[in-house]
Amino acid sequence: MTFRARHILGIEHLDPEEIRSVLDLSEKYVELNRRTVKHSDALAGMTQINMFFEASTRTQASFELAGKRLGADVMTMSVAHSSVKKGETLIDTALTLNAMHPDLLVVRHPASGAVDLLAQKVNCAVMNAGDGRHEHPTQALLDALTIRRAKGRIQRLTVAICGDIAHSRVARSNLILLGKMENRIRLIGPPTLMPAGAADLGCEVHEDMREGLKGADVVMMLRLQKERMDGGFIPSEREYYHRYGLDAEKLAFAKEDAIVMHPGPMNRGVEIDGELADDINRSVIQDQVEMGVAVRMACMDLLARNLRAERGAKAVGVMV
Ligand code: NCD
Repeated sequence: MTFRARHILGIEHLDPEEIRSVLDLSEKYVELNRRTVKHSDALAGMTQINMFFEASTRTQASFELAGKRLGADVMTMSVAHSSVKKGETLIDTALTLNAMHPDLLVVRHPASGAVDLLAQKVNCAVMNAGDGRHEHPTQALLDALTIRRAKGRIQRLTVAICGDIAHSRVARSNLILLGKMENRIRLIGPPTLMPAGAADLGCEVHEDMREGLKGADVVMMLRLQKERMDGGFIPSEREYYHRYGLDAEKLAFAKEDAIVMHPGPMNRGVEIDGELADDINRSVIQDQVEMGVAVRMACMDLLARNLRAERGAKAVGVMV
């Protein structure tokens, strides 16, 4: 198992071998999570602090469960009731918590780059649970595991990523991961929601959804990130659904066995038809949630191994 990383800040810092190591170890945790007794002691005695400066349901729950199932002492800081409300900066909050000797910090923040900055100031392992529109590495890893289990591989697939790509850290992390694993990527959406220079990213760009979906193995839908929009990016939600909402009629342009994904939270009737989202023959949306816990357990387990190795080496250094 090859995994050198000290933090998980972005897919951009992981190589294909490290990505494969996470996915392989995750399989063991998928199995553990399906048992009645779901405990491992990979993080026994370690302290994990979750700091979520942005709303979250599945990611926060997933990280918390992952830590608990690995035997860590887990604390989830409630930002709404913290000194952040009194004007304390992110770095001061992080340094305060760092002084309590956590081993793992899990951070979500609305500013791109905030988690990288924080990782330079603390001496524990840091996991990025989403920073602005930059990266959401564990989401891309759980998506990769979901795809690999459904399709039997994570190479040479045609993956269509549709919707609000410009504002999406999920799209960005997935683009990097799927590119590193040599897949063919299609970006589909209106020009207003396409990142600048999208065509130079080595993927095909389509404005016409039916055209873009042709022959796709995987169709990944994205939420309209209204909280990151500062103006009119779409004429209306109705018009958007008409052109870019995934329904059975548009999905028919993809491969017959194409799977449908969505990171959640979903806006039913805006980017995806509710019935299609619930169709267990096509949609793997609930599998993504299940894989999320396993992938986070695998990431934490690997980071904890590196942390122990690093500290072990230091302890020997002191004795010599
Ligand atoms: C995503 C996020 O927060 O970036 N959600 C998630 O983590 N499952 C996507 C989104 O908010 O639309």
